[in-house]
Amino acid sequence: MKAIIEGKCVDYTHDGQGVVKINNRVVFVPSLLIGEVAEIEILYRKKDFDVGKIKKIIKFSEDRITPKCQCATACGGCSFQNLNYKKQLELKYNLAKETLKRIGGIDLPITKIYGMDEPYYYRNKIQVPFGYDKQKRLVYGFYKFKSHDIVPFKECVIQDKVHINILSTIKKLMFDMNIKAYNEDDGSGVLRHCLIRVAKKTNQVMVVLVVKSLNFPSKNNFIKALINECNEINTIVLNENPRKTNVILGNKEKIVFGKGYIIDELLGIKFKISSKSFYQVNHSQCEVLYDLALKEANVNSNDVMLDAYCGIGSIGLIFSKFVKCVDGVEIIPKAIKDAKENIKLNNITNAHYFCSDINNFVINKHYDLMIIDPPRKGIDDKFMNSILKLKPTKVVYISCNVSTLARDLKILSKLYKIKSINLVDMFPHTFHIESVVSLSL
Ligand SMILES: C[S@@+](CC[C@H](N)C(=O)[O-])C[C@H]1O[C@@H](n2cnc3c(N)ncnc32)[C@H](O)[C@@H]1O
Repeated sequence: MKAIIEGKCVDYTHDGQGVVKINNRVVFVPSLLIGEVAEIEILYRKKDFDVGKIKKIIKFSEDRITPKCQCATACGGCSFQNLNYKKQLELKYNLAKETLKRIGGIDLPITKIYGMDEPYYYRNKIQVPFGYDKQKRLVYGFYKFKSHDIVPFKECVIQDKVHINILSTIKKLMFDMNIKAYNEDDGSGVLRHCLIRVAKKTNQVMVVLVVKSLNFPSKNNFIKALINECNEINTIVLNENPRKTNVILGNKEKIVFGKGYIIDELLGIKFKISSKSFYQVNHSQCEVLYDLALKEANVNSNDVMLDAYCGIGSIGLIFSKFVKCVDGVEIIPKAIKDAKENIKLNNITNAHYFCSDINNFVINKHYDLMIIDPPRKGIDDKFMNSILKLKPTKVVYISCNVSTLARDLKILSKLYKIKSINLVDMFPHTFHIESVVSLSL
């Protein structure tokens, strides 16, 4: 029989789980809020901590609200749907401040956290697996935390509503046409994942169907019926992934409807987005983020700028109007192809894009301004050494991971003064937060 304990939540982990301390032992409890007392079932024990789940809440927090989403607890995607939004922002602010101090030794005030007025239905991209439940019924949904069990959903309150309509139509058509979902165990079946992107400004919609093989029975009828039933779709791409892997997208693609990309707009600049391009998932907060980066960079028309980790060129192209020239560097060839087309799409003449690992990019000119927007792992040593050698006058570091940001700021602080730290809540109800830090030499 599993042990049941009673305890009070006194803190949160970096990923939003409640922390309960009993006799010098720490128990992590998802969905338990600070101040709440609960009966907790211990699920498993590790060397330094236990993991439990709430059996019964004995004392409720005043900040607890009923999640809008029926599967919020089961799917595990949203850690904080049960906490009122104002408190979520306070929590993220405090967690960021504490992490910057603990890892980076940075004890500075955070100027502001920018939250959303309407923090629901904000995601412009969804990526879900198709499969079968225990009763062998066709389902789509999110993988349950640390498992490959699919938690089905009828609605997801952080996703654009268009996504849900298209997903349920795909499921209905698969059922009608006897198209099977891929089976991870024996490799049978057709459809593995569906990725949908909606351009919030232009309303264009792209559907990417990740399939075991580009050819499958009833393919043409299926695509035709999907277009007929969902006339909001502008383009459909088939992506072939025959491998036994957790990586979602394969290498081979075929456009079966429309142009194979969609166009969106951010702060007046048009962007072409294809299946594999990185594009921020929260359109309105992305505008807040880029606008903030622009202000914090204090740009002028003589600035020579490097847009490091540039994706499809979003930041550099928005900055291009205000600086002398922009170089952008990105590792994914398709994103650079899009960035180059985005230059033409917007008639920009002072931006240049290069496909390279930023660590191997040979820099032999002076940059006044570097905008650095790395993935979660932060800046690698090699590029960090280049920054410290090249000494750009201004650096704006945009980060989606406060822990690696803190580590990197500790190093940059040897040469740079931190002028401001701001947070933008791009991902309400989850524990993620985006930071914008402005530094000067
Ligand atoms: C957080 S995204 C930022 C993209 C872009 N700045 C934006 O706002 O849309 C990080 C980008 O870095 C790219 N990337 C990851 N590692 C890289 C590397 N070693 N060199 C260059 N680009 C890299 C990824 O492909 C991704 O497009």
